[in-house]
Amino acid sequence: MVKKVVIANWKMNPETTAESRKLFQDVVKVASTLKKINVIVSPPAIFLSDLVRKQNKNVFLCSQDVFWGKTGSFTGQFSASMIRALGVESSIIGHSEKRALGETDEDVSKKVLAVLKESLIPIVCIGEHERDHGGEYLTFLSNQLKASISRVSRKDVSKLIVAYEPIWAIGKTANDAMDSHKLHEVVIFIRKVLTKIFGREYAQKVTIIYGGSVEPKNASDLIKNGNVSGFLVGHASLDSKKFKEILVAVEASK
Ligand code: PGA
Repeated sequence: MVKKVVIANWKMNPETTAESRKLFQDVVKVASTLKKINVIVSPPAIFLSDLVRKQNKNVFLCSQDVFWGKTGSFTGQFSASMIRALGVESSIIGHSEKRALGETDEDVSKKVLAVLKESLIPIVCIGEHERDHGGEYLTFLSNQLKASISRVSRKDVSKLIVAYEPIWAIGKTANDAMDSHKLHEVVIFIRKVLTKIFGREYAQKVTIIYGGSVEPKNASDLIKNGNVSGFLVGHASLDSKKFKEILVAVEASK
């Protein structure tokens, strides 16, 4: 059985170590009842070393970013080898909120390679700012995806997780999130672009997940009809009750 993936992206929350422990404990508790999901929690980097010993076979930690260098004069950065040494096995790369602060496709590409070099899993975010009727957003998505992952070698393709996160759907409510049938179409499109980059056989090995206002209300529909293998959940992952409901909905899907 190939497990689904649900990632809790806490962004710059919560405020204290105590709150982060509590939130993580709540996830560990519900995850122990799940069989079909790999649950990944991505807290602010400052909390990683505190939570790392509390990881278990159902819940893993992930950084929200990483730098491509190994060591050196890069104030404020940390490397893939550092998070690996800590016991963290994956990293979000290219989140739209990082891209909005100036991260380029080239930065993303270098970070993806650095993460793979350390045998970690890159969760690469892509997503258009807005939709247009002419389909320009598809060209944007294709270019962004190619620029972010084209240099990945075939032997590493199966480690890639692509998180499709349309920016217009992030941080809103279930009503503003993507329609599951439209999501299904975009995922087919992403798979086509992956096929162009890696060939059909390898393109099938990439895990594609969705993020953008996943909430208890839409989780079930999106996982059943959206053609994705999981979610990247932002605001709803900060509410233990809501996050549990999302996990339960994914667990219940086929
Ligand atoms: P959201 O965030 O669930 O709050 O929309 C998703 C994300 O930005 O990863």
